[in-house]
Amino acid sequence: MYENIILEIQGRVGFIRVNRPKKLNALNIPTREEILKALDELGKNNDVRVVIFTGTGEKAFIAGADISEFEGRTALDQRSVMRATRMFDAFSEFPKPVIAMINGFCLGGGCEAALSCDIRIASDNAKFGQPEINLGIIPGGGGTQRLTRLVGEGKAMELILTGDMIDAAEAKAIGLVNHVVAFAELEQFTLAMANKMAEKSPIALQMGKESVKNASRMNIREGLDQEIDLFALCFSSADKEEGVKAFLEKRKPEFTGK
Ligand code: COA
Repeated sequence: MYENIILEIQGRVGFIRVNRPKKLNALNIPTREEILKALDELGKNNDVRVVIFTGTGEKAFIAGADISEFEGRTALDQRSVMRATRMFDAFSEFPKPVIAMINGFCLGGGCEAALSCDIRIASDNAKFGQPEINLGIIPGGGGTQRLTRLVGEGKAMELILTGDMIDAAEAKAIGLVNHVVAFAELEQFTLAMANKMAEKSPIALQMGKESVKNASRMNIREGLDQEIDLFALCFSSADKEEGVKAFLEKRKPEFTGK
C-alpha cells in the first residue's frame, strides 16, 4: 500500500519511517503524499496516541527535498506542490504528539520536517543543516520561521545563510534537539518517551500541544486566554475525573480518551 514509507503500530505508538535509504530518504512528491496519508490514518486510529517519525537506514533521517525533482520546475509548479502537500503543517497541526527520531543526516526539508514535529531526539551521528542556499534557494517548508523560533534569529540566520552543517552535540547546545543518544539506543529511548506520553490522557495531550503551539502564533494575551479555555475544556473529559480520582485514591490512572 505504501511504497516510500513504512507505517507500523507498536501498542499505542505509530511509526512513520521514510524508506528510501539509497536516496538518503529524500522527500519526493509521492513520499510526501504517503506521509500525509499515513498521518491521516494514524490520526483517525484511536488506539494510537503518539507518533514517531523517522527514516530507515543508518545514514539519514531525511537529506531534504528530492533535488532531482527541482530541475526545470517552474515557480508556479513548485508553489502548487508546496500548497498541495502541506506536509510540514500536517505534523504541527496533528492532534497527537509527534516525535522526530533523527537517525543521521537531517537536512533541508528533513530538518524542516523535524522542526514541525513536537520533540526531536537525535542519534550522536546526526547532522543538521539548511543547505538550500547552496542550491540558490531558501528553505520553503517553514525553516526560516520554525528554526528561528526554536533557536533564535542569530543561529537560524547563520545556518540558513551559510548552509553549514552542525553535529548533534551543537544541535543540542542551541536547542534544536531535546536529546542526543547513541545510535544503538535511539529507538529504545524514543519509544520510552513515546510510551510515557501514550499513558496520559489523549485529550490533555492534544490540548497541551495546541496550547504550546499557540505561544508562537499568538500574542501573550491571546495565548494566555486560549490556555484558560483549553485548560477548562479538559474539565469536560472523563479523563480529568479519572486522573483526579486516581490521584486521590493513590493509584495509577487509566485514561480512555473520553
Ligand atoms: N535529493 C535527491 N537525492 C539525494 C539527496 C537529495 N536531497 N540527498 C542525497 N541524495 C542521493 C544522492 O544523489 C545519491 O544518489 P546516487 O547514489 O543515485 O548518486 C545518494 O542519495 C547518496 O548520497 P551521496 O551524496 O552519495 O552521499 P554522501 O555521503 O556523499 O553525502 C550528503 C551525503 C547528505 C552530504 C549529500 O547527499 C547531500 O549534500 N545531499 C543534499 C542535501 C541537500 O542539499 N538538501 C536540501 C535539499 S533542498
